[in-house]
Amino acid sequence: MGNETDGRGGGGIASRRGFLKAGLAAGGAALAGGGTALAREIGNPDNLPPNVPDWSRYLGDGVAVRAYGKPSQYEGHVIRRDVEWLTASRESSVSFTPIHELDGPITPNGLCFERHHGGIAEIDPRDYRLIVHGLVEKPLVFTLEDLKRFPRVNHAYFCECAANSGMEWRGAQLNGCQFTHGMIHSVMYTGIPLRNILAEAGVKPNGKWLLLEGADAAGMTRSVPIEKALDDVLIAYRMNGEMLRPENGYPVRAVVPGWEANMWVKWLRRIEIGDQPWYHREETSKYTDLLEDGSARKFTFVMDAKSVITSPSPQMPLNHPRGFTVISGLAWSGRGKIAGVDVSIDGGRNWRRARLDGPVWNKALTRFYFEFDWDGSPLLLQSRAIDETGYVQPTKDELRKVRGVNSIYHNNGIQTWHVMSSGEVENVEVS
Ligand code: MTE
Ligand code: CO
Repeated sequence: MGNETDGRGGGGIASRRGFLKAGLAAGGAALAGGGTALAREIGNPDNLPPNVPDWSRYLGDGVAVRAYGKPSQYEGHVIRRDVEWLTASRESSVSFTPIHELDGPITPNGLCFERHHGGIAEIDPRDYRLIVHGLVEKPLVFTLEDLKRFPRVNHAYFCECAANSGMEWRGAQLNGCQFTHGMIHSVMYTGIPLRNILAEAGVKPNGKWLLLEGADAAGMTRSVPIEKALDDVLIAYRMNGEMLRPENGYPVRAVVPGWEANMWVKWLRRIEIGDQPWYHREETSKYTDLLEDGSARKFTFVMDAKSVITSPSPQMPLNHPRGFTVISGLAWSGRGKIAGVDVSIDGGRNWRRARLDGPVWNKALTRFYFEFDWDGSPLLLQSRAIDETGYVQPTKDELRKVRGVNSIYHNNGIQTWHVMSSGEVENVEVS
């Protein structure tokens, strides 16, 4: 593929505010320089028709060589990436899903973004235990095998860090949807409804909150209200059919559908039932939204409806000059199913309905497409999600009017990509 772009967010990061005005004033001409970089490359001309390519002339690997399959060697650029200056330490690290390289509604396991506060816990499943205690009739300790004997269910859910798009509150910053929107993944979980485990233990009438605790070095804890625990929380041990990856909580994690990912405690070792929320060393206090007047929003658990165009996007430019063009993107809502997605090619002046394709699951990523005949002129691409409650994804300015710019968390504003005539794409804002 000829689209090798610099995927690292680190290099070109600067405030991109004011960029749009300057760019459009010059008719986009000043920005269209690198167009030739987008031309398709050829690997080896000898492999092109009418020649017989290498791969048709020699025997390939047999079945024994790839006991656990990996993507093609030519897809090596499709990887999780981090932003150097963000938090790449073992105490607190984060990587981003390459959503610009993916399609459909499911994230492959090896590409799911990771967020750790104490690194990855490598748990021997034989020594794994889940403790349920506190305000219960019967405190319980489960082995992994015990858990696997409960009736199980399968659900696809998105998992979005509340800090996703957090760097964009003050203006367009990171040049790629991997970095602006990549703290999200959506996989098919296999697990046990938490309510069934709680029924086994027998929650006392004054049991109103749950403490979920991880077995990692951070011993991360979060408080979850009992209503949510009895509603749709899962104790999950599989993702996309196979056991959870160590990065994502092997062997057991909490799945808290539609709510901020920080509550999805990985390496889950303990559930304590109490009568009020716990005080958490850092996480709860950090996961609040500081408003302009100095007060803070607390308990903003639900992730509101949001969407982003994944292709084209800064790391995935258009490599054709004009003509039939497919726009692909993702939409999701923590309040239910996606009801529709609108796409604008002129910065939000006119909107057209996109096509939802594939399953539209409750609180999971939903794929949308918008096909159109591109005349080659610069575009300001936007998408806005509408969920089944009727909620419409707001613009960034609408969000800032309510929330100011002190927040890091819960930025679900509409994203704008400026597509130049060359096909290159930049993260911008329109007002
Ligand atoms: N659970 C434990 N035990 N330790 C952690 O550091 N990080 C939380 C949450 N659960 C965390 C955890 C945060 S902030 C996020 S965004 C999600 O896990 C990330 O889940 P993932 O790594 O599967 O993407
Ligand atoms: Co997080």
